[in-house]
Amino acid sequence: MALQTARTPLESYGTSTHGSLLLLLLGLGWMLPSRAQAADTGLGLTTPWLQHTSRDQSWPQPELTVIIPRAWRGTEKKACPPGRKAQVVDEKLVFYEEWELEACVDGALLAAQMDRVNLIPFTYQHLHIFKRKLDKFYPQGYPESLIQHLRYFFLSVTPEDIYKWNVTSLETVKSLLEVSKGHKMDAQVAALIARYVVRGGQLDKATLETLATLHPTYLCRLSPEQLGSMSLNVVWVTRPQDLDACSPQQIAVLYPKARIVFKNMTGSEYFENIKPYLGGAPMEDLRALSQQNINMDLATFKKLQTEAVLPLTIAEVQKLLGPNLVGLKAEKGNSLVQDWISRQSQDDLDSLGLGLHGGIPNGYLVLDFNVREALSGGPHLLGPGPVLIVTSNLLLAFILS
Ligand SMILES: *[C@@H]1O[C@H](CO)[C@@H](O)[C@H](O)[C@H]1NC(C)=O
Ligand SMILES: *[C@@H]1O[C@H](CO)[C@@H](O)[C@H](O)[C@H]1NC(C)=O
Repeated sequence: MALQTARTPLESYGTSTHGSLLLLLLGLGWMLPSRAQAADTGLGLTTPWLQHTSRDQSWPQPELTVIIPRAWRGTEKKACPPGRKAQVVDEKLVFYEEWELEACVDGALLAAQMDRVNLIPFTYQHLHIFKRKLDKFYPQGYPESLIQHLRYFFLSVTPEDIYKWNVTSLETVKSLLEVSKGHKMDAQVAALIARYVVRGGQLDKATLETLATLHPTYLCRLSPEQLGSMSLNVVWVTRPQDLDACSPQQIAVLYPKARIVFKNMTGSEYFENIKPYLGGAPMEDLRALSQQNINMDLATFKKLQTEAVLPLTIAEVQKLLGPNLVGLKAEKGNSLVQDWISRQSQDDLDSLGLGLHGGIPNGYLVLDFNVREALSGGPHLLGPGPVLIVTSNLLLAFILS
């Protein structure tokens, strides 16, 4: 009988590998070459050879169904056993083996019944399989209709997944924020907020309050207005690195909050805390800081607002930087440092003994911008840079010489 004879050569292979088995099946003409090609991974079978063998079918077809399932066991993706295909997401799936979940549940079902997925106590392994199925089903990212129903499944997604999403509903953002509470989901939350605000989404007061209690890695993605309406709590949970990507406008909004939060601290404790926000500090506050012996580092100095630094005197900057003052010399390329130097008297700079050049030569004075504009009859007529006016003494000396 055909079935009997068909088994013999296969049994004799015993522990045959997937590859040799594949060859054998092909040789026997039992597999369609296209299937074999898809299944084969390491043999490099060429199409002409496959075409040749496929024409040479010497065995009848019925044996195929008997032998292939035996041969494939444990080596390739298995088919869903009859009657096990999931039509609904329900408790029965908890008792499925992982390979059965893989074979019998599809992404479309999971997407349609996400609410049910969240009601059933699936293990992390189960959820991991579901996640893979969904990702395969939506390679471009989940649609918002699914995101709205994600709930606890949100805990399984990565920031990279979220950056593919379009989120336009504040309700969705809120529900996912709620889910993420108490889990280490900062990066996911940051991504979610980013995807929401990038499409013009507005955050309400309550949401901003919630955000203010998480590590705000998303801070720099909020507009200055949104930052402005966040509570002071946000300062307590903000780490310096959360501010790295913020613009001066954003820092300017956060600075007054930080100032209030840290106002009970003094000296170096205050300075260390307020430091990441100082890019938003006005001149008066820098002046006050210069009295506190804080020895500001140059990296912080260079991030200060130009308008806040330019009016500072040499003595004030000297006090602000302390021993770090010597570092100014190396900052030739920094426009803030150069602008400030260009407003100081060269004599006074020389008295620092640091070799700082570019100050105002003795006998000249700098006119305030407003005076300059008044004199020139309007802005921008004189071009950038301070205006040097020869003082009367020098003029006199010139005339008399
Ligand atoms: C998000 O929106 C963009 C532009 O409208 C679209 O191209 C993209 O496919 C959308 N992505 C998803 C996951 O819906
Ligand atoms: C500052 O200290 C006072 C008294 O110690 C306290 O009542 C107040 O709440 C503190 N303020 C802040 C912002 O911590």
